[in-house]
Amino acid sequence: MQGRTIPIDYPTKIDLARLPTPLQPLNRLTEKYSTPHGGPRIWIKRDDLTESGMSGNKLRKLEFIAGAARERGCDTLITCGGIQSNHCRTTALVGARLGLRVQLILRGEHSGSADGNLLVDQLAGASCAFYPPREYFSRQAELFEHWREFYAQRGHKALCIPTGASDGLGIWGYIAGSEELLGDCRREGFEPDQIICASGSGGTQAGLTLGCHLLGADTRVTGFAVCDSAEYFQDKVREDVAEWAAEHSKGFAVDALDVSVNADYIGPGYAMADEPVYRTIAEVAQLEGVLLDPVYTGKAFHGLLQELHRGRYQHCDNLVFVHTGGHFGLFPHREHFGFLQ
Ligand SMILES: Cc1ncc(COP(=O)(O)O)c(C=O)c1O
Repeated sequence: MQGRTIPIDYPTKIDLARLPTPLQPLNRLTEKYSTPHGGPRIWIKRDDLTESGMSGNKLRKLEFIAGAARERGCDTLITCGGIQSNHCRTTALVGARLGLRVQLILRGEHSGSADGNLLVDQLAGASCAFYPPREYFSRQAELFEHWREFYAQRGHKALCIPTGASDGLGIWGYIAGSEELLGDCRREGFEPDQIICASGSGGTQAGLTLGCHLLGADTRVTGFAVCDSAEYFQDKVREDVAEWAAEHSKGFAVDALDVSVNADYIGPGYAMADEPVYRTIAEVAQLEGVLLDPVYTGKAFHGLLQELHRGRYQHCDNLVFVHTGGHFGLFPHREHFGFLQ
């Protein structure tokens, strides 16, 4: 690593995550997926262990967002996502921990008893408003404004957090995350050739890509899309970085960033998976004792194993998969694991 001597000037954050998270080798999977010509050693950065209920990648972003909320005198957080959103669940628990009101704008219908992330949202005391998908997407800005105004009229100041906390502020979470990860790798005696994560709203990939760039690492970051197209994520990552640059690094050459997206493993669509993904989740649980989820990490890891099988990462010595959490999203998919019986 060429290295960087100037420290990155991070904004205020509130410490909520258990950091650093462990970096673990996946020895049994490495052995299984190596070819006669070798193959990379596979490592996993356990960001599913950032906390217990607040587990996952969103907590790293929300540390900086909560810092901004405190600085701006906000007492309420408003955010949005699907009914099984990990981001909404983490925001709900962060709000509870910090004594902030949380309003969730949720996509989908709530029928019957709550499961997975939605159950946790309710346990944490978040207020949930449900909208049909069409209305959720077409009126999103309006819905945020409605709820912001609703709280303002009652004397509260709200901070609105976009989908997945992916913006020029949330990106700090994985700039810091990449600094931690590169430090872990250095202590293990290597620089990763490749970092892989699941991309849903793009902020994790944006932070890792920018962080590795700022730190002078010779590391490629690839986001495995779980929805949308490769072009969408190319644009979204650059958009988040441009928003960050406008605030913190005017003149930063956003277009020079190497943004790598693999959109070949989305399958039937967001939050839907084919049986091979469920089988990969079972394989990783059985070989490594690590739990993945079908919406993000399981889908991305399945894509990674397929690419390894095709020899895509043959030139790499060390490859790190960032486990971004999502355990609570596994249980509402229980009916897809019939092959285990
Ligand atoms: C468990 C999990 N992994 C990965 C992602 C993708 O991260 P990002 O939204 O930053 O692209 C998300 C959220 O979208 C998530 O909840």
